[in-house]
Amino acid sequence: MSDRILVTGVAGFIGSHLTERLLDAGRNVVGVDAFTDYYPRSMKEANVASFAGRDGFELVEADLAFDDLAPILEGVTGIVHLAAQAGVRASWGETFATYLDCNVRSTQRLLEAAKTMSVSRFVYASSSSVYGQTDDLPMREAGRTCPVSPYGVTKLAGEHLAVLYHRNYGVPTVSLRYFTVYGPRQRPDMAFHKFIRAALEGTPVTVYGDGTQTRDFTYVADIVEGTFRALEEGPPGEVLNVGGGSRVTLNEAISVIEDALGLPIPRRHEDPAHGDVTDTLADNRKARELLDFEPRVRLEEGVARECEWLKSLAG
Ligand SMILES: NC(=O)c1ccc[n+]([C@@H]2O[C@H](COP(=O)([O-])OP(=O)(O)OC[C@H]3O[C@@H](n4cnc5c(N)ncnc54)[C@H](O)[C@@H]3O)[C@@H](O)[C@H]2O)c1
Repeated sequence: MSDRILVTGVAGFIGSHLTERLLDAGRNVVGVDAFTDYYPRSMKEANVASFAGRDGFELVEADLAFDDLAPILEGVTGIVHLAAQAGVRASWGETFATYLDCNVRSTQRLLEAAKTMSVSRFVYASSSSVYGQTDDLPMREAGRTCPVSPYGVTKLAGEHLAVLYHRNYGVPTVSLRYFTVYGPRQRPDMAFHKFIRAALEGTPVTVYGDGTQTRDFTYVADIVEGTFRALEEGPPGEVLNVGGGSRVTLNEAISVIEDALGLPIPRRHEDPAHGDVTDTLADNRKARELLDFEPRVRLEEGVARECEWLKSLAG
């Protein structure tokens, strides 16, 4: 039987890169996406256009929270579940219902279906946001999880579901806690994307807080490699930090972008946003040991590639 990998969220930032990596490795991919309106559909279509015509790829437009999953899952031999409503700040208020549908309900439905299938792995994209506000750095998988945003709560719920379905039904789930991902095709609500656009367009961008908050930025190709390896050889039932290598303050990151573009980033400061944490830092020893994971792309190099991408869109 030939393999058939289901990638959910295929039209998104990380899903589109992962799909290219899988196709490059000769794998067959069925990609699912609902093309939600969190950011423009045209950007997602452009992501998919990069590989839509390649052999071994099939696109299905469907909503994992409500549509029939049986036809999508037919013949599927492995699952990478990236589909989600992303974004920390937008997760308050009425839009939380969307987070519940896309992040919790969709995950539970997929796991429920996977119970009766024989998939080699079910990789679930979790997030460093499950840790919340902590001084206990670096963030270790065994450390406390106490999300400070509704988004983080839904990502942690998905992770718990993944572990439950492994323990009770033997679904070979592997949860990966990604740390702030950047690079070409990055979502337009994410900081680097906004900063680069602000510099190119000369319009001011909002920086929440004084810019001394730190993030462990991870280049998308490194995230993809960790995810690819988790699909191949990830330890079922485990939760792993995948990220790191470039922990800097927001102010330092802004300087790197300004240097890459040779342009200033006009900015205004506002109070820290609800749900944002002060610091993230990945302890990625477990992923290094179990997946041979190694972040390779330096911040300057990765930022230059994201700048080139956004410059090409600006024409
Ligand atoms: N980008 C990051 O820095 C980061 C960090 C930590 C975790 N993550 C996680 O990684 C995954 C991918 O993130 P991304 O940045 O590529 O986001 P993205 O928004 O670019 O991609 C997610 C895709 O999922 C699709 N989707 C959402 N709900 C769906 C549904 N109900 N049915 C079908 N498709 C649906 C969206 O249309 C979108 O194309 C998410 O699970 C996110 O929580 C991302």
